[in-house]
Amino acid sequence: MSTLATSNPSRPDQPIGVFDSGIGGLTVVRAIKDALPKEDIFYLGDTARLPYGNKDRTTIERYSLEIAGLLSVEGAKLIVVACNTASALALPRLQEVFRIPIIGVIESGARAAAAATKEKRIGIIGTRATVASGAYERAIRAVDPAIAVLSQPCPLLVPLIEEGMFEHPVTLEMLHHYLDPLIAEGIDTLVLGCTHYPLLKKAITEVAGDDIKLVDSAENCAAQVQQLLTEAQLENSAERPGNLQVALTDSSNPFFKTADQALELNINRVQTRIVQGVTLAAL
Ligand code: DGL
Repeated sequence: MSTLATSNPSRPDQPIGVFDSGIGGLTVVRAIKDALPKEDIFYLGDTARLPYGNKDRTTIERYSLEIAGLLSVEGAKLIVVACNTASALALPRLQEVFRIPIIGVIESGARAAAAATKEKRIGIIGTRATVASGAYERAIRAVDPAIAVLSQPCPLLVPLIEEGMFEHPVTLEMLHHYLDPLIAEGIDTLVLGCTHYPLLKKAITEVAGDDIKLVDSAENCAAQVQQLLTEAQLENSAERPGNLQVALTDSSNPFFKTADQALELNINRVQTRIVQGVTLAAL
């Protein structure tokens, strides 16, 4: 059973903890590294239990608590839930349990989309769980209730991405299958509501055309991390580039290299972490 750290005597030299169900959250790591080059980052991908996107709330909450617990043991000063599914379904529970700041990716994506749409018609693509949660609709309507939000679950995209089939004809065909109905509804902005999807940006633009603005949470989330660290006086001021450590919960990682190369992160070593159970009743 893992021990959850409940006190927060965080220091600026501690790492930022980032997690996702798999490799998708590395798109958020890329953005954090660009915005905050001096920060150390500890990334944890729960590849042993990917995908989260077709599981129920109880399971997603439990997995997220366990992974956040591991990041807390690694000394994270702040945790970024770089997974839309976990952000949509588990963020309130995580924020209730842990005392270190925990931020998700939905808020930042929703705000960016609301700022981008001219016609007030936004499309959302995400996993089944993210779309079913209605989290993006709520977050966008909180900014502007007049915006029409059209959502489309895309359960087959994550496996295609994890296989590195970023521009494969099968991927383009699947994108047509998922996006054509949204395009026909006249959306002018499309939220990539899954941290895996930025790896498909080129293919999505090919299918959706240049007139539809693509919004992903990564950059906005990185800006939110920066603001939070500044406010909490937890920015790392070390005079050297930050160090990125990556750990996965399953040691076979056939998809990892693809993402590493696509995002130019130059990760040379991947660690393995074993997930230990957390008894929710004990929290
Ligand atoms: N990267 C996850 C997300 O942002 C999706 C992958 C999964 O289904 O676990 O929702």
